[in-house]
Amino acid sequence: MGAFKEPHGGELKNCYVPATEVAGEKARSRDLPSWDLSMRQLCDLELLLNGAFSPLDGFLGGQDYDRVLADMRLSSGVFWPMPITLDVDERFAAPLREGDTIALRDAEGVLIATMEISSIFRPDKEREARAVFDTVDDTHPGVNYLLNRTHGVYLGGRLKGIEPPTHYDFKHLRDDPQELRDRFRKLGWRRVVAFQTRNPMHRAHQELTFRAAKEAEANLLIHPVVGMTQPGDVDHFTRVRCYEHLLAHYPEQTTMLSLLPLAMRMAGPREAAWHALIRKNFGCTHFIVGRDHAGPGAGRDGKPFYGPYDAQKLMTEYEKELDITMVPFKNVVYVEDRARYLPQDEIKDGTRTLNISGTELRRRLRDGLDIPDWFSFPDVVAELRRTHPPRHRQGFTVFFTGLSGSGKSTAANALMVKLMEMGGRPVSVLDGDVVRKHLSSELGFSKEHRDLNILRIGYVASEITKNGGIAICAPIAPYAETRRRVREMIEPHGGFIEIHVATPLEVCEQRDRKGLYAKARAGLIQGFTGISDPYEIPENPEISVDTSDLTPDLVAHRIIIKLESVGFIR
Ligand code: PPS
Repeated sequence: MGAFKEPHGGELKNCYVPATEVAGEKARSRDLPSWDLSMRQLCDLELLLNGAFSPLDGFLGGQDYDRVLADMRLSSGVFWPMPITLDVDERFAAPLREGDTIALRDAEGVLIATMEISSIFRPDKEREARAVFDTVDDTHPGVNYLLNRTHGVYLGGRLKGIEPPTHYDFKHLRDDPQELRDRFRKLGWRRVVAFQTRNPMHRAHQELTFRAAKEAEANLLIHPVVGMTQPGDVDHFTRVRCYEHLLAHYPEQTTMLSLLPLAMRMAGPREAAWHALIRKNFGCTHFIVGRDHAGPGAGRDGKPFYGPYDAQKLMTEYEKELDITMVPFKNVVYVEDRARYLPQDEIKDGTRTLNISGTELRRRLRDGLDIPDWFSFPDVVAELRRTHPPRHRQGFTVFFTGLSGSGKSTAANALMVKLMEMGGRPVSVLDGDVVRKHLSSELGFSKEHRDLNILRIGYVASEITKNGGIAICAPIAPYAETRRRVREMIEPHGGFIEIHVATPLEVCEQRDRKGLYAKARAGLIQGFTGISDPYEIPENPEISVDTSDLTPDLVAHRIIIKLESVGFIR
């Protein structure tokens, strides 16, 4: 064990089989039932295999899971706050029995590990949400993932690692726990304070981390998450380039940057304790915990999910078991009169301080406004501007939803022509009928098929948006959850404007351009939206229009005005 700092549970796990056994293990795995890992599962697996989640050596079984939910311990009694589980669908689980071995593969089919199943169980997800996130409100991204994305069966068991997941990016900045410990030892770094982040870092962060390191008489590890963070965050490629610039602003030999392929859950206090244990496994002695650590902001009721210092409180409560020293985050602010950053608690009342919030920074990037030097380093800002052009240079998607015959296609076509007249960006229309001909010709109108159809449209629209174009979609898209998934696919890349074409059913039916309503009423078409199949009305569309009293021209005009007001066209 090459460490100054004991790993959690006493032993740093390494689940990989020796190199000499890899070929044999691969051959044996050929006929095993094979599970294609999701991005989240792949992140978890990587950190299980390399010991970052020590003392875990596999996905949790039922007993450990129950105890982690109930009192943040494994069944051995060791403190562990986060359930690390492998969810699979019923179809995959049906033939499996305890004692069976399965193969775990990445999205390209590469064998990463095998797992001998010791536990098969069906979780009560609401109980899990309450225990881990303290809420079942699915505007919380962790709860949303759990309730709406995870499959119904969990498999637990020990892992045998075959080969680490491949990363093509920033190889020089990726270290597993043993490698980082070795680097610390080589450099003689005995005390290391780790800084966790999922955001770009500016002068205040630099100041705060440097102060924390000085106070702890320790070196500093910038340890950003590059696995999965909160939807809408700045992508990790941009962030890492920013961190690399930032590194040059610390005194030489004091600070190191290493990337952590973690999938965050945004679970606030429990997550903070989990983050600390992971850093301990990487050999760090101190861990910075800030205000609202790993909190996802406010919920449906407008209240923050966690109190600003809940994470610090939990860390203090379990201080001994965590066995890594917390450095509580002191908010630092810019004092203009002294042209420097100071911790908030060192500032006299009435002193003029400056601050730019994350929301304000995004606004300035979006609108191409000034970002002052006191706030961030010019090389960091330039990096952000490269990937965050102002809105009028970003792509966007206009997503019409509404009943058949509500006027979606006509409005979509009118909008397309107006946008093409303005020029500047390529425009593509993904109309319901056209998509069903070219992308989804094999699909029918069951819920499953409709969802698949909409997700395909969402995928194409997100690619168009990402590349700076305009996608206009016009399917029925009757299900709210599926529309939300499409929004989530697109918003990280540009704008998403949902238009509810709220023309009443009676009007659509009266128009009956294709004669389908008559057929549906006569029972010749089953499951027809609005007649014998549901349409879930959008709760918060950007625009709602009723084409019984608005011409297509006026509908398109309203959308153009909206696009201008939010900055996508000017
Ligand atoms: S969905 O639910 O979003 O996948 O539907 P979509 O692909 O937009 O539907 C395209 C057109 O299919 C015709 N059609 C039906 N609509 C609803 N329910 C049933 N069962 C059905 N069968 C065929 C209908 O004309 C849709 O076209 P629009 O342009 O909406 O009138």
